[in-house]
Amino acid sequence: MIEQDFVAQPYEKDVREGKVTYKSPSNIALVKYWGKKENQIPANPSISFTLDACATTTSLSYRKREKLSDDFSFNLFFEGEEKEDFKPKINTFLKRIEKYVPFIKEFHFTIETSNSFPHSSGIASSASGMSALALCLMDIERQMSPEITDDFFNKKASFLARLGSGSACRSILGDIVQWGSHHETKGSSDLYGIKYPYQVHEVFKNYHDTILLVDKGQKQVSSTVGHDLMHNHPYAENRFAQAHENLTKLTTVFADGDLSEFIKIVESEALTLHAMMMTSLPYFVLMKPNTLEIINKIWAFRASSNANVCFTLDAGANVHVLYPENEHAVVYQFIKDELVAYCENGQYICDRIGFGARKL
Ligand code: DP6
Repeated sequence: MIEQDFVAQPYEKDVREGKVTYKSPSNIALVKYWGKKENQIPANPSISFTLDACATTTSLSYRKREKLSDDFSFNLFFEGEEKEDFKPKINTFLKRIEKYVPFIKEFHFTIETSNSFPHSSGIASSASGMSALALCLMDIERQMSPEITDDFFNKKASFLARLGSGSACRSILGDIVQWGSHHETKGSSDLYGIKYPYQVHEVFKNYHDTILLVDKGQKQVSSTVGHDLMHNHPYAENRFAQAHENLTKLTTVFADGDLSEFIKIVESEALTLHAMMMTSLPYFVLMKPNTLEIINKIWAFRASSNANVCFTLDAGANVHVLYPENEHAVVYQFIKDELVAYCENGQYICDRIGFGARKL
């Protein structure tokens, strides 16, 4: 599909008011998206596990406006409180998507949103938040155009979510989602995420992600700024090529269930992401001393136990500890005994691979 396919056709049905609620999960990238072109087009393809426990629930109440104006009209409540400071981000999102969902200026919206994970846990809510809002808007569009198929609904929700935050387009479906075109992945697109279309070995079913909250503070450098620093980055072209190669390798790993190869790819991707940050100009470091302590502990434990536990990182100091269901008991015990001590206030979140967003 091309961008033009997402420009709305004239609507058949009149919709005046109502309320819709979606719960949408976060996701954790295995091959990372870092660097983008104009209009939220990724510089390289990425792939992620959709999560289950970390999610945003968004209710969208909508009412046709009496008088049209050139502005968007909405109120925004986060965990029950009106949040003026979140509004500019939503306003930018609405501006970016207006071409594709032109009805949004005709309504007044009340957006009520809450996260399952603690506020200021250092966990980005943009993926779950933007995908939940995109789904609510698509639900309204489907009421106006009832012929929309489920496939189109999911693709357009992902397309819209991408315009809010790139990684959000990987949060509509589960359990493994690829975003960005890759010559070996049929149906892959820079415009939206697709469910990974090939065989996945049993060992990846119910995969665990225990998120260690190392630093709950505000990041010094936002992802948006970090992406921008990939323009003219001395290693950018090699990095983008490497992401393509790692995706090719993962296809074999997913089919065979080769966890030692999985670990190599996933940890290398995490460290490369942070290496790109450290070699940007200006350079920056988002890892904290405890991030490295945890990584070293994981390596030592793996060497002594042969457990298939590994880590990945997003754009922050927190560590995602990944391991298969059949090793849960031993790895979880290790996490409690040896890693939780490095978390801020001992906080961590037990999550696992999930199956995507749903309507409530
Ligand atoms: C390191 O999706 O947050 O988590 O498109 O600017 O909103 P924007 O960026 P964002 O970047 C996520 C970067 C990452 C890697 C990943 O999730 O693939």
